[in-house]
Amino acid sequence: MRNFILGVLVTLLVLLFGGLAYALLGFIHTNADATPPRWESRFAMSAMDASMDHHAPRVSNPLPPTDENIIDGMKIYTMNCAVCHGTLDTKPSPLEHSFYPPPPQLILRPLDDPEWHIFYAIRTGVRYTGMPAWNKALGEQDIWKVTAFLSRLDKLSPAVQEYWKKSFGVAPPAPGEEHEHGHGHEDRD
Ligand code: HEC
Repeated sequence: MRNFILGVLVTLLVLLFGGLAYALLGFIHTNADATPPRWESRFAMSAMDASMDHHAPRVSNPLPPTDENIIDGMKIYTMNCAVCHGTLDTKPSPLEHSFYPPPPQLILRPLDDPEWHIFYAIRTGVRYTGMPAWNKALGEQDIWKVTAFLSRLDKLSPAVQEYWKKSFGVAPPAPGEEHEHGHGHEDRD
């Protein structure tokens, strides 16, 4: 029994110091222009979803989804988010492959998460990724507006679609149009 415990302890120590040495001797890459391996995205995505499920309050959007609020959300998105998540002329962001993990292209592949989840992700950001916490840069109402916009991309009213077309020269993607290229997180579904 004593030898067994000793064996377990020695193994743990070897793993611990092996891991430390691997990191401190510079073997871990720092470049962000690489594609995370499938197992890593899958693991990170499940952990992120589980954490949001655990921490995010189940709040509902206090603002009604009027055309005016959705259009405000569109403007807030264009000014703050499009550079990473894709512009409203329906092109992927030029920075799509410049982050590790990559930013999901939210216009081309709309999210299907509930609003409380999206709101929490925007407000508090995502650690160890390029996703900032917006709670110090945007007011609560503006975060709700952009949340409303992002969660209704495939059911925009005709007036909002018209506004989009007029402002960006391209009609919003039809529901399902881009889905054959996979969801924002190809590995999740
Ligand atoms: C500097 C680049 C950058 C900017 C600017 C940015 N994001 Fe992100 N965002 C990211 C990255 C990278 C991720 C992926 C995080 C991950 O994989 O866990 C992300 C993730 C997200 C998610 C989570 C998606 C999910 O699957 O749950 C949402 C929602 C989101 N961003 C919305 C926004 C909104 C809204 C804005 C503007 C107010 C914004 N982002 C601005 C880089 C950015």
